[in-house]
Amino acid sequence: MLKLIHLTDLHMTPPGVEHLGCCPRRRLEGAIDSINREHADAEWVIVTGDLTALGQSSAYHELKACLDALRMPYRLCLGNGDHRGRFRSVFADAAVDDNGFVQSVIETREGRLVLLDTLHQGAHWGALCADRRRWLARQLDADGTAPHFLFMHHPPFPIGIGLLDELALKDPEQLAAILARGNVRHLFLGHAHRPIAGSWRGMPFTVMRSTVSQFALTLDTDQPARCLEPPMYGVVLIDDGQVVVHFHDYAHDGPVTAYRPVPDVIVDDEAVATSYQDRQRRRTGP
Ligand SMILES: [Fe+2]
Repeated sequence: MLKLIHLTDLHMTPPGVEHLGCCPRRRLEGAIDSINREHADAEWVIVTGDLTALGQSSAYHELKACLDALRMPYRLCLGNGDHRGRFRSVFADAAVDDNGFVQSVIETREGRLVLLDTLHQGAHWGALCADRRRWLARQLDADGTAPHFLFMHHPPFPIGIGLLDELALKDPEQLAAILARGNVRHLFLGHAHRPIAGSWRGMPFTVMRSTVSQFALTLDTDQPARCLEPPMYGVVLIDDGQVVVHFHDYAHDGPVTAYRPVPDVIVDDEAVATSYQDRQRRRTGP
């Protein structure tokens, strides 16, 4: 079994700069603390872009300082909030392809993790140029029978939220043609700042909330709205072809109570059911 953590849309800012009413660094530190405490057995943390809000070098330095606290290795994708050149100058050891795009493959015993670079510098929509598509095709052909898991920032399909759909990946048919090889088992995406699951062209996908602000669920308007739903990361369990994705509201601070056993069977006698509940109440109080 392989455990991964999927983080997305960190929107890191330079020191002391808030982002839409919260501190991206504190939010990420909270996520890292949670990951280290609750999921220290995760083998990788993958971040699907918008590492920063506006791509300043100082924001990348902030990010690097935070990520150094992770107990496990991490790998990063870029999003529309990023700047490829500044990222590469700060993360000088980041894996890149032959053309300098931030794309790479991680080999695992459960399959190959393929990280794509969908940043079109200066635009909020995403793109995979011919060079990046050729690289992807080569990776999928290199071990055609292995399961592949794709990580990328921009969804290649509309999700039903106004402006976001205009800012999806351009020319998704070109990507679909490459993925028609049939060896991609799951797409892990960002950009939408919402918890979303579904399938595209037969391939399951999941999207996580950001660690900072979210988009509200506004399906009937062209104008998306921001909100402060809780931050989240994904806990991904891959085991012999099965993929399970848990959406973890890691900042939840409400009560977590012990599970109380229920009767072994659903009783069809009302008096017995009432007696069981009375016993439970006497044990635990009102
Ligand atoms: Fe974002």
